[in-house]
Amino acid sequence: MTAGPPPEVPTFTAGTPNPPITFDGPDTYSDADTASLAADAATIIAKYPESRSALLPLLHLVQGHDGYLTRAGILFCADQLNLTPAQVASVATFYTMYRREPTGDYYVGVCTNALCAVMGGDAILSSLTDSLGIADGETTADGRVTVEHVECNAACDLAPVVMVNWEFFDNQTPDSVKQLVADLREGNPPAPSRGPSTLCTFRQTARLLAGVDPESGAQA
Ligand code: FES
Repeated sequence: MTAGPPPEVPTFTAGTPNPPITFDGPDTYSDADTASLAADAATIIAKYPESRSALLPLLHLVQGHDGYLTRAGILFCADQLNLTPAQVASVATFYTMYRREPTGDYYVGVCTNALCAVMGGDAILSSLTDSLGIADGETTADGRVTVEHVECNAACDLAPVVMVNWEFFDNQTPDSVKQLVADLREGNPPAPSRGPSTLCTFRQTARLLAGVDPESGAQA
């Protein structure tokens, strides 16, 4: 049997450049914040046989500090794990749970995937953003609430579903979500439909996802 010609290698041109990946915020943390984050990072890294395996929780750790991923956060993770900033950024931009804009105390994710959409998810998102005067992905001026569409959260039997800091609020309507957001902005976060009886803030949730005490740690 003879080998055929090698497969054609596609050529790439510079005609459609990729959008640049950018992070904002300061380049560095204060000495005190670096020390606090490094102590938490050491606890996290020690759980893994390979330090680079700790990248996802470390990204949550710096997100818990800043409320989103900043340049300082990316550089901190790279430094802690002996990775390049480009390696960290490539992971950070792959997962939608990592945010690149300042995020409110409560991240309200409205599911607009197929089943939630037909059950009213699209109507919930549009009525909520209209009533708040913000666009999808934006934060209210008081910094309390960020609203964004999210993908399926595997709770389709309870559609339409809204997530607040990744806790479930099932069987929602435009009016029930407006009331939910009003309560969040007034500092009276209601209990989720299931799971924990109280809601953490976005930064506390990020620290929980990092695997460290949500109540401690320096915050920007
Ligand atoms: S489509 Fe919304 S939870 Fe599955």
